[in-house]
Amino acid sequence: MLLKSFARSLATAASISSPKFQDVVVIGGGPAGLSLLAALKNSHKTKHLKCTLVEGSSLESVRDFGINPPDEYTNRVVSLTPKSVEFMQEKIGNWDYIDQDRIKFYDNIVAYDSQDKESRIRFDGSSVGVGVLAAMCENVNIQSSLISKIDDLNDNIKDPSIEQEAVILDNTKVVEIINPKEENTHELLENDPEAGNPEIDWPIVKLSNGDVLQTRLLVGADGFNSPVRKFSHIPSRGWSYNRFGVVATIKHQYEDYRSIAWQRFLTTGPLAILPLTEDNATIVWSTTPELSELFLKVDEEIFPHLINAAMTLSEVDLNYIYEQLKKDPNDKSVLEDIEWRMSKIKLSILEEKYPLQVTTVVENSRARFPLKLSHADTYAIPRIALIGDAAHTVHPLAGQGLNMGQSDVACLLEALEDGVNRGLDIGSTLVLENYTANAWPANHVLMGVCDKLHKIFSTDWFPIVFLRGFGMKSLNIVDTAKDLMIKAISGR
Ligand SMILES: Cc1cc2nc3c(=O)[nH]c(=O)nc-3n(C[C@H](O)[C@H](O)[C@H](O)COP(=O)(O)OP(=O)(O)OC[C@H]3O[C@@H](n4cnc5c(N)ncnc54)[C@H](O)[C@@H]3O)c2cc1C
Ligand SMILES: *[C@@H]1O[C@H](CO)[C@@H](O)[C@H](O)[C@H]1NC(C)=O
Ligand SMILES: *[C@@H]1O[C@H](CO)[C@@H](O)[C@H](O)[C@H]1NC(C)=O
Repeated sequence: MLLKSFARSLATAASISSPKFQDVVVIGGGPAGLSLLAALKNSHKTKHLKCTLVEGSSLESVRDFGINPPDEYTNRVVSLTPKSVEFMQEKIGNWDYIDQDRIKFYDNIVAYDSQDKESRIRFDGSSVGVGVLAAMCENVNIQSSLISKIDDLNDNIKDPSIEQEAVILDNTKVVEIINPKEENTHELLENDPEAGNPEIDWPIVKLSNGDVLQTRLLVGADGFNSPVRKFSHIPSRGWSYNRFGVVATIKHQYEDYRSIAWQRFLTTGPLAILPLTEDNATIVWSTTPELSELFLKVDEEIFPHLINAAMTLSEVDLNYIYEQLKKDPNDKSVLEDIEWRMSKIKLSILEEKYPLQVTTVVENSRARFPLKLSHADTYAIPRIALIGDAAHTVHPLAGQGLNMGQSDVACLLEALEDGVNRGLDIGSTLVLENYTANAWPANHVLMGVCDKLHKIFSTDWFPIVFLRGFGMKSLNIVDTAKDLMIKAISGR
């Protein structure tokens, strides 16, 4: 007993470097985590909070992008809703730091069905009065603008006794998260003051660089496999689609001035061609595990033609071509075959109803990601909040994943600002429950819409195809689907 208190007084006497007490610790330097950090520091109500962001990998390439962006577009590109753009302009303040030359706005969407030539939805944002539907932007462009904004805010601190610099630790992994109120931990901590204060219920985060942080609020922005979510024991429900999203940067034969986002619903999953500046574009091709593997290894010269074929030919034709390529992914004789099959479509129809021909795929830009739906039961418990993919993942067919993360950040920021205004503890249930209440239901609805669109279109079972075609032509499913998609994609 005597020994123990002696040890403790010794430890207190020495200047203790650990733990570092923080108001907010964000785990994850993806778009969601960096957005929250920048938003907190940009708000007059929350900029006094002590905030640290921890990212496991290196952010070097993100910083480099701001100084010396690569010539070609990177392959992770998202469609931002006007609502997300507005949030970045008005609340986070990072929009001015975005490389605007690499942003492409579009105002048209054409979606059509592989099983029924007649069913086609076209929305023209300008004719519906919403104008621009969305902006295409590289993930790294967003991240880089956020880091620049944070650097600028740090450089412009006027009163260091009130404002706190935001700290970003990259190349630093979370090794362990500890709840000081758990029975056995409590005892351990009493013996080791540097490992955290057992008298407060703030989570303790141990980092790979040896630092120990103890924080009033821990935010999991740590992606789909979220260690923070696991620690929180918040259940997450969902399923895998048994599909992969193949992404790639491509080039058209020339610039398409129509600025259309194209999406064709194939029974294996939708293929989208999304416009970028000049003759550049990006694709998201949701497909089976087997085909996604084939699309990654197929010859670079053949791949663009596979995209053209998949946007126009029948699925019977496509399957025939895939069977040939499965035998030899470098079999250039399929090129003639594709050309012959395409030549049966009238040129005027090709030009009017289909995207411009794809001619090139940018070297090393092909990659695939597993697609799954998951939603956490709640976004917050006392002292912990989840944002972005840590809280939800969704099928990419409506381009919503990152946008949902932006809306999480907006809702969490608002809840924390309210909490500060009222002089409440920002890690308390009272403050955090407003975050879940405002963010969860809207995400839930949106995820249901994306999931249903996927299910309705990913079948070739005749009755559904029949109903789908029939519906698209005559029933007001056209309007419903149009409404749903326009709401989802434009966030309005
Ligand atoms: C094919 C495809 C197409 C898509 N298209 C769109 C689109 O058009 N529009 C759209 O809005 N969204 C789209 N999305 C979704 C979007 O990309 C994601 O929703 C978004 O990138 C998630 O951001 P995040 O910050 O939540 O998570 P992430 O980007 O996954 O970031 C999580 C970070 O946490 C870090 N981390 C994890 N564990 C630890 C640890 N223990 N310690 C420290 N750090 C850790 C990781 O290194 C990572 O950097 C698409 C997704 C796919 C797969
Ligand atoms: C888009 O394409 C054009 C012409 O091919 C090219 O010059 C330009 O650099 C590309 N833009 C980006 C950002 O890659
Ligand atoms: C939560 O939100 C409601 C409705 O906006 C508001 O009236 C209430 O004061 C908020 N609670 C806190 C703690 O900020």
